[in-house]
Amino acid sequence: MTDQPDLRSQLEEARRQGIDDFDKADSPQSLYEARTRYLGKKGKVKGILRGLGRLSKEERPLIGQCANEVADALEEAYQKRQNELKSAQDAQKLEQDDIDLSLPGTWTRRGAVHPLIRTQLEIEDFFHSMGYDIGEGPEIETEYHNFEALNIPPDHPARDMQDTFFMKSGHVLRTHTSPVQVRYMESHQPPLRMIAPGRVYRCDSDVTHSPMFSQIEGLVVDENISFRDLRGTLEQMIHYIFSPDIGARFRPSFFPFTEPSAEVDIECFACRGADPQCRICKGTGWLEVLGCGMVNPAVFEAVGYDSKKYTGFAFGLGIERFAMLKYQINDIRLFFDNDIRFLKQFV
Ligand code: FA5
Repeated sequence: MTDQPDLRSQLEEARRQGIDDFDKADSPQSLYEARTRYLGKKGKVKGILRGLGRLSKEERPLIGQCANEVADALEEAYQKRQNELKSAQDAQKLEQDDIDLSLPGTWTRRGAVHPLIRTQLEIEDFFHSMGYDIGEGPEIETEYHNFEALNIPPDHPARDMQDTFFMKSGHVLRTHTSPVQVRYMESHQPPLRMIAPGRVYRCDSDVTHSPMFSQIEGLVVDENISFRDLRGTLEQMIHYIFSPDIGARFRPSFFPFTEPSAEVDIECFACRGADPQCRICKGTGWLEVLGCGMVNPAVFEAVGYDSKKYTGFAFGLGIERFAMLKYQINDIRLFFDNDIRFLKQFV
C-alpha cells in the first residue's frame, strides 16, 4: 500500500506540470514536443506507470484509473492549446493578408443542358411513355444500310435527295437515321416499337440546314398497323412537345422506303404565315420538321420479314428544327457555335 500514494502524487504532479508546459508552449512545434514529453511512449505518464509492477493486485487498477484520468486531462489541455495557437495563427495570417471582407464574392457560372439535348430528352420521354425501345447504329455506315436496304439502289435518283459525304473506304457518313431501322429489324422480330436518336451528315448549309445535324428515327411494326396509327402518334408527340394549339399538317411526299409517304410541317413561329419575306419559312407559313410513311414492303423483304403479315410505320425528325421552333431560334448554326451568351439563355 505504501507505493500507491507515491505513484498517485507523481501522476498528479505530471498533470499539473504538463498542463502548465502546454499553456506555455508558444508554437505548434513546442506544443507537440511538450505533448511527447508527457504523453509519448517514453513520456512521463508511461514512465510513472512502469512502477505499477511493484503494487499489489488491488492497488494496480486504482492507479491505472488515475493514470487514465491524468492522460485524458493532459490530452484535453493539449487540444485546447492547439486550438488557441491555430486561432492566433489564423488571425495573424488574416491581418498580414489584409483581406477586404466587404468585397463582393466571385460567382461560378451554373451549367445547363444544351437546348438540343434538352429537346431530344423531351422527345425520348414521350416515346418512352409509349413503350418504345431505343435503337443504335454507327455514324460511319455501309452504303447497303444507308441506301440499298432502304430501297434506294445505286444510280437511283433518290440518292440525290440527300447530299452524301462518301469515304475512301467505300462507307458513307450516314445521311439519315433510317439505316438504324434496318439494323434494328435485322436483330429483332415484330411486334416492335423503337426510336433511334443520333447524328447525321449532309453536304448542306444555310440558316435551317447544317452539314451535321441530329435526327430521331421511329419505327413501329406489327400486324394491322395503319396510317391512322402513324398520324395519331405524330400529332400527339407534336402536341406534347409544343402545345396542343400548334398547327401541324401532313403533306404528301416521297421516300423510297415508305409508301405512302408524307412530310409534316408545323406553323412558322416567326410570322405565323403573315410575312411573305420571312427568312425562316421563306414566306410559306410552315416549317418542315419530319418525314414519315408506311414502311415499304421492299424494306421488310430486305430484312426477311413477312410483308404480307406485317405492316409498319416509320418517321425521321430533325431535332434542330424542333428546338428552333420550341425556343424560337432563327439560325441553326447558333446550336453549334457554343457561344456562351446564347447558351446561358437556356439555364
Ligand atoms: C429523311 O431523312 C428520312 N430518312 C426521314 C424518314 C424516315 C422518312 C422514316 C420516312 C420514314 P429528310 O431528308 O426529309 O428525310 O429529313 C428529315 C428531317 O430532318 C427534315 O424534316 C428536317 O427536319 C431535318 N433535316 C433535313 N436536312 C437537314 C439539315 N441539313 N439540317 C438540319 N435538319 C435537317
